[in-house]
Amino acid sequence: MSRVTLKHLARSFGPVVAVRDLSLEIPDGTLLCLLGPSGSGKTTTLRLIAGLERPDSGEIWLDEDEITGLEPRDRHVGVMFQGYALYPQMSVEDNIAYPLKVRGTPRAERGARVAEVARLLEIDGLLGRGVQEISGGQQQRVALARAIVQRPRLFLLDEPISNLDAVLRSTMRAEIRRLQKMLGATTVVVSHDQLDALAMADLIAIMKDGVIQQLGTPDDVYDRPTNTFVARFIGEPQMNLLPATIEPRDGLVGARVLGHWLSVTDQARGGLASATAPEVRLGVRPRAIRIHRDAAPDRIGATVYLAAPEGSRVIYQFQIDGSRLTVQAEPEFRLREGEEVHLELRPESLHFFATGSDVGARLA
Ligand SMILES: Nc1ncnc2c1ncn2[C@@H]1O[C@H](COP(=O)(O)OP(=O)(O)OP(=O)(O)O)[C@@H](O)[C@H]1O
Ligand SMILES: [Mg+2]
Repeated sequence: MSRVTLKHLARSFGPVVAVRDLSLEIPDGTLLCLLGPSGSGKTTTLRLIAGLERPDSGEIWLDEDEITGLEPRDRHVGVMFQGYALYPQMSVEDNIAYPLKVRGTPRAERGARVAEVARLLEIDGLLGRGVQEISGGQQQRVALARAIVQRPRLFLLDEPISNLDAVLRSTMRAEIRRLQKMLGATTVVVSHDQLDALAMADLIAIMKDGVIQQLGTPDDVYDRPTNTFVARFIGEPQMNLLPATIEPRDGLVGARVLGHWLSVTDQARGGLASATAPEVRLGVRPRAIRIHRDAAPDRIGATVYLAAPEGSRVIYQFQIDGSRLTVQAEPEFRLREGEEVHLELRPESLHFFATGSDVGARLA
């Protein structure tokens, strides 16, 4: 049972600030995903928790104990590194047993524990093989087994599935989640892939330039992104972001976008009241836009620029004056390039962000 608390952690490498004043609480039994682009400080954060890196300032707590100064081996964490670094000259069994051997666990107990985790991960038939004689997916399971065999208080997995092909990735996402729930161990998974995070995590912390931009459940970060960085990082295809102007009509606040005036929800109207300028950015997810053949007052005329059928969905690019809009539609709904249609942006599906800064904060 372990709750992890990070308090104002900071770590720089020369002029590069890898982690900046990072505070975070990971509740016991939670799978938290640290998600962000390359260089955002994910691995550094994980290495700080593992004790492989020392913070310049800040504290790390495991339940009621401060562990900031402890050696890695005294922290009871199981780590799986980016690229998972198996010992190539050793067998599967010896790789899994290695952390126990280092701790001086007696041979008989080692054998029993390795057999147990190997059964759990369905690699018990591979124990005698060399790690170079098994597939990438199997190697990945061996690396996981090596982290689990230590029965740690905390699992730290750095990009555990990024080397796998798409089919195996999706299986392993489910597998890691199942395993984590079964073991009940608090787990931090690092990934740069938003699908990993949405599929596996109880909580997602989205990082940019060493700073957590948003901490929330997968639904939180998808439905209410806190700024335009999160809005575009979560969801595929990316959320559309368009310049818009707050504009009242008949005494009601709405938004003018792509030459059309759109009404907004009462809740959005409250948020827009806090905008410091009438210029805002309007966000709308590709799957929230409805395509119609007929014109109507609130619909925006658009031309099909590109149609990309993807089997279970079609991704359209529409041209509206000089702007492009991405829309995800059902596969039955087929449009030809050049066709004229009318798009409906429903008030409930609109997000509003401030302009002015690089990362516009959510207004509504
Ligand atoms: N040992 C080091 N020496 C110098 N700079 C480092 C070191 N480790 C990390 N950095 C720098 O700190 C920043 C954060 O690196 P980090 O490895 O934490 O990123 P990351 O989010 O894990 O990226 P990736 O997705 O590419 O693995 C980067 O700019 C990186 O170049
Ligand atoms: Mg990394």
